[in-house]
Amino acid sequence: MEAAEFWEQRYAGSTKVWSGRVNTVLTEVAADLPAGRALDLGCGEGGDAVWLAQRGWQVTAVDISATAVARGRAAATAAGVPDDRITWVAHDLSDWIPEPGFDLVSAFFLQSPVEFARQEILSRAAGSVAQGGHLLVVSHAAPPPWASQWHVHHAHDLSSPAEEVAALGLDAGEWEIVLAEVRGRESIGPDGKPASLEDSIVLARRAASEPNGDGS
Ligand SMILES: C[S@@+](CC[C@H](N)C(=O)[O-])C[C@H]1O[C@@H](n2cnc3c(N)ncnc32)[C@H](O)[C@@H]1O
Repeated sequence: MEAAEFWEQRYAGSTKVWSGRVNTVLTEVAADLPAGRALDLGCGEGGDAVWLAQRGWQVTAVDISATAVARGRAAATAAGVPDDRITWVAHDLSDWIPEPGFDLVSAFFLQSPVEFARQEILSRAAGSVAQGGHLLVVSHAAPPPWASQWHVHHAHDLSSPAEEVAALGLDAGEWEIVLAEVRGRESIGPDGKPASLEDSIVLARRAASEPNGDGS
């Protein structure tokens, strides 16, 4: 099955897949960042994009599922977010080229049971981070309890922070790893049951200016 077909079926198969709430790690990390331009990779039903927009960010939110993106747009409208605050894009990130200049690029649980070029997508997105901007990649450090039910237990869906940092391959001269850690949290799964989860969190900051060769 193609990725687009899988995710479209997944979203179209229920009226709501996720809680609609912002990811806690985003609230913890972005609370201290000045609002600017943000790119949300695999935005799902838009909880993070709406939260960022409500805090003054200009957001581009991308997901392969048109249904998920439509739900995100509806959630933004319901939350009173002006239409021009979030650009919603229904597209496969495998062949989507981000424009440069984002102050924050986030990827929360960008995973798929259908093979896809995740590292290429993240590397390309890292290239779109503005000088002084941040790249935030959050994934499951351990399988969520609902993993087998939702078929999201593939090994490539799980990453330790060290593995994620290594896979990103960021130039150490240009990037500072601000956070690379596992954090636990309590959540409610798509099945409505409480669950203890472990998130792998990597936050990297791009240097504020390119190293220059003129000795200054
Ligand atoms: C586990 S969900 C996470 C959604 C959201 N980031 C969140 O934290 O609630 C993974 C999301 O990635 C999207 N996705 C998977 N493969 C994709 C691809 N190749 N291009 C764009 N989005 C993709 C899916 O449609 C899904 O919404």
